[in-house]
Amino acid sequence: MDLKFTDDEPSAAERAAVDDFLGPATSGWSGGDRTATDLRWAQGGHEVRAERHLLLEVVHAVNDRVGWISPGALNYIGIRLGVPPADIYSVVTFYSLFSTKPRPSRVVHVCTDIACEARGSRDVCRDLEQEYGPAGAAQGWLQSPCLGLCERAPAALAIEAGNPPTEQVLAPVTAAEVSSTLRSGAPDLDTEPPSVMAVPQAGDEDLVQLRRVGRVDPESLDDYRAHGGYEALRTAFALGPAGVNREVVDSKLLGRGGAAFPTGRKWQSTAAQLEKPHYLICNADESEPGTFKDRVILEGDPYALIESMTIAAYASGATHGYIYLRGEYPRARRLLVNGLEEARRRGYLGENILGHGFSFDIEIRRGAGAYICGEETAIFNSIEGYRGEPRSKPPFPVEKGLFAKPTVVNNVETLVNVLPILTMGGPAYAKIGTEQSTGPKLFCVSGNVASPGIYEAPFGITLGELIEMAGGLPRGQSSLRAVLLGGAAGGFVRANEIDIPLTFEGTRQADTTLGSGVVLVFDDTVDVPRILLRIASFFRDESCGQCVPCRVGTVRQEEALHRITANGNDPEAYAANLELLRDVGQVMEDASICGLGQTAWGAIESAIDRLGTFSETK
Ligand SMILES: Cc1cc2nc3c(=O)[nH]c(=O)nc-3n(C[C@H](O)[C@H](O)[C@H](O)COP(=O)(O)O)c2cc1C
Ligand code: SF4
Ligand code: FES
Repeated sequence: MDLKFTDDEPSAAERAAVDDFLGPATSGWSGGDRTATDLRWAQGGHEVRAERHLLLEVVHAVNDRVGWISPGALNYIGIRLGVPPADIYSVVTFYSLFSTKPRPSRVVHVCTDIACEARGSRDVCRDLEQEYGPAGAAQGWLQSPCLGLCERAPAALAIEAGNPPTEQVLAPVTAAEVSSTLRSGAPDLDTEPPSVMAVPQAGDEDLVQLRRVGRVDPESLDDYRAHGGYEALRTAFALGPAGVNREVVDSKLLGRGGAAFPTGRKWQSTAAQLEKPHYLICNADESEPGTFKDRVILEGDPYALIESMTIAAYASGATHGYIYLRGEYPRARRLLVNGLEEARRRGYLGENILGHGFSFDIEIRRGAGAYICGEETAIFNSIEGYRGEPRSKPPFPVEKGLFAKPTVVNNVETLVNVLPILTMGGPAYAKIGTEQSTGPKLFCVSGNVASPGIYEAPFGITLGELIEMAGGLPRGQSSLRAVLLGGAAGGFVRANEIDIPLTFEGTRQADTTLGSGVVLVFDDTVDVPRILLRIASFFRDESCGQCVPCRVGTVRQEEALHRITANGNDPEAYAANLELLRDVGQVMEDASICGLGQTAWGAIESAIDRLGTFSETK
């Protein structure tokens, strides 16, 4: 790798963005600086890498202000952080929200993922293509994977670079609205409907996780306290760290991020590690297509997450926490920034919290449009300023995680469960739901239902009951074709399988998965092969490329699906392509490093085997 700088210099705006974030440079931009930095790299060592963890945030700062990352900006960031520009280039090009080619300052990302596909995004894109040409940065609009706004599908996100930048959700969106945004700018963030709109049950007294959403002012710590906020933290301090862990173990809480790992065991193992410091990461990346539950908590009850993280840190011995937040959640970020500042100011974060001798603080780290960065070890690399590629396990995060220190990673929904666990007690919490899947669960219901949204229900509700809660199918005439459980990494079930109980064990028994709680409903108007092609292109796009089975397999899978859909009724060609799909799918499942490759074939396999998709081709 060439460690030398090119002669490209940063523009005034780029330099200001970096300096505003890192503080003023102590020496100017000169050849001397560059030589000195080249030398530091050649010598290597910890000091050189010490500031690298700021890389993603600095790149965001430039991108926010200018809209793309020029060679001059790469050079200047390199000088300031002591990171080779080639290395920064490899990081920047990893994330879809960044560009190393000039982009107009205003870009609209139009979601073409599965929930939006089921609700008309194709028509929006067709109209935009007619007006502006094929999607591309130069045209001002881009096609995007799921934006976490599936209940308001079809969705779009407008981003306008500037100081400050503006980001605006447009959902449900029409081509005319995208056009008017491209011409005259996005409306103000405050015009966005509140997150309570995504919670059709809002106000229901029996809710546990969602009880404050829509009732509490998400900007006010006092209002949070008036609605029972910070009672659980006081209980935690009275119980002590081991007591909190005991309650969480007794609650039998399983992680809600998709892997269903026992949370109490994770916290206890981390607490037992002698190596210090310990870190806590809240996984708020939420990029599984069809998932938007974490967004609703982050926007509707942000202090609940801050309090829960404080308790999790207390129990696991962590002194520093990160919220790894989806780059596409501007409102959640604004509310969290406000919440963290306020909690710090009022003694709920920082040194000696509420006088109990426990110190802990939280930083936000913004993702930048990479699904793989939701994988827990990919988050470590992303926060540390490297490409967000997963690490091999073992070592497991509880032993060697962020900065090679013991680390707890938990999903947003998992974390906020600690509040009812502590207020009602672990054993009482364990009585909600079923023996093996305890507590309330948030389900992300989208697609062809009358009232898409987040629904809270105890584990054990059947799929049919949940669809009924969401108002059933919207059009009287259409009938249920299939349901995708667990998102792109999940699997399809048939219309006659709606008695499946929604629990980890029930879905496993039915040979499918609950994943993170995606319930994407398709009526008989939906073109299933098209959905499968979208899923295949999603995995091809999002594979980090690190391991061969996934890097090559996701490409071959998509190609074979294209051939099947193009070849119509040729049974021989179908058989050959199906055999290839099965072979490639098996290799991806068996030999990929991480869950992305391991699950990339699951939904497609389930559509072929369970729904009989393409059966007319046989
Ligand atoms: C490709 C991939 C993407 C993932 N994305 C997310 C995500 O967006 N949010 C999340 O909480 N977990 C995600 N996970 C699961 C995490 O790796 C990890 O299991 C989880 O954050 C642990 O938290 P929990 O125990 O509270 O579920 C993903 C896993 C894989 C393999
Ligand atoms: S399975 Fe795919 S996403 Fe995961 S490490 Fe391998 S290439 Fe990357
Ligand atoms: S916002 Fe489009 S699929 Fe989720």
